[in-house]
Amino acid sequence: MKVTVFGTGYVGLVTGTCLADVGHDVLCVDIDQKKVDNLNNGIIPIYEPGLESLVRDAVQNGLLHFTTDPKRAVDHGELQFIAVGTPSGEDGSADLQYVVAVAKTIGELMDGYKVVVNKSTVPVGTAEKVQAAITEQLSARKSSLAFDVVSNPEFLKEGAAVNDFMKPDRIVVGTDSEQAEKRLRELYAPFNRNHDRMVFMDVRSAELTKYAANAMLATKISFINEMANLAERLGADIEQVRNGIGADPRIGYHFIYPGCGYGGSCFPKDVKALINIAKGVDYSANLMEAVDRVNQAQKSRLVDYIHQHFGKDLNGKTFALWGLAFKPNTDDMREAPSRVLMEALWAAGAKVQAFDPVAMEETQHIYGLRDDLKLTGTKEAALEKADALVICTEWKNFRAPDFELLKRTLNAPVIFDGRNLYDPARLEEYGFEYYAVGRGKSVQRFS
Ligand code: UDX
Repeated sequence: MKVTVFGTGYVGLVTGTCLADVGHDVLCVDIDQKKVDNLNNGIIPIYEPGLESLVRDAVQNGLLHFTTDPKRAVDHGELQFIAVGTPSGEDGSADLQYVVAVAKTIGELMDGYKVVVNKSTVPVGTAEKVQAAITEQLSARKSSLAFDVVSNPEFLKEGAAVNDFMKPDRIVVGTDSEQAEKRLRELYAPFNRNHDRMVFMDVRSAELTKYAANAMLATKISFINEMANLAERLGADIEQVRNGIGADPRIGYHFIYPGCGYGGSCFPKDVKALINIAKGVDYSANLMEAVDRVNQAQKSRLVDYIHQHFGKDLNGKTFALWGLAFKPNTDDMREAPSRVLMEALWAAGAKVQAFDPVAMEETQHIYGLRDDLKLTGTKEAALEKADALVICTEWKNFRAPDFELLKRTLNAPVIFDGRNLYDPARLEEYGFEYYAVGRGKSVQRFS
């Protein structure tokens, strides 16, 4: 099938590439000429495992093209995906200007039936706005061409996006049009073998499904973090509690890992957007507000421990930091807990020596050159002459360090672990002062 994708950001690029990989003829559109030139040469602007080679293969096979030409884009696909950004406004509401601009372009230039597929995460009711924008353009042209607007939210995880797209748990499509349903079934047939993963519903329900999924996951994380904070005060170990509750299949082991808070481009933004959407219909989303509050506080938990250990004034102290990205396998620093940590350390007068396997360039880009931030080439170099080690991201390579070396290199054997990577008893044997999140003995000193 011929498919057009507006927006070559994270979602657009993964969608377009994976659709081309199974044989669809895909044209991706972006306003940034340099980005388009790079993409046509197989160079991608983001870090996502497996994506670059898929882009190269699909470009080479002639199934994936990139353009800045809107006319060519609208002509190309009967299916027109909208995957442009929806940045958060100050109040947390999603800014729809780019989505509406694409809708207008489609309405202005289309000359046959189109299925317009909304992939961007947008407030409930956006499909109707897209519909209205297209209709307005068509009536200005005195045209009565048919089209359908469909909501097809994405559930991709950064770092696993290609796999998530290729092997989806479910493919949610909101539409009331039989014709559109047929097209979407055909489009996704290659990803829908063995058992039917297509879930059709009305448009508004599909739009809400995306927020509900992310809100539920964020709730699980804030829940376990709240329990971790309680465990600390009660002298219990949250990791044992986690095992104890996860055994109940209604709760499950997934996504209840305590830590220094959730970050990334989705959860923080979507939880805030949902609070805002609720306000718009005179409803207080109390639970979501609490989830957001708990998470904000959780991002400062490590800073609390550090102050407990070293006192308020951190002048002259240096902290080794392992992990900058908001989670492993990405260079994404959006809403990363490491940022809250570094900024608090700097504010208290400390220096940071940080290492991350892929996010150091992005960190440099955000903070520029500064005396109190040194990015080191290896995780070991970050430890040199540091007063303690802090861990913000659970990269695999941090899981089994050489503890003897760590002890020798640090000024003092102190670890603040925001991802609960190590066994407190073992670290005690090694002679470390080990602070983890919600872990019995190691944190009882705070109670
Ligand atoms: C998320 C959703 O998983 C995905 O379905 C949606 O489309 C976009 O948002 P992503 O933001 O890429 O994906 O990351 P995810 O792996 O879900 O992690 C989000 C954050 O939660 C990370 O900061 C992670 O460290 C944190 N987290 C996750 C926890 O603190 N504990 C957990 O148990 C799980």
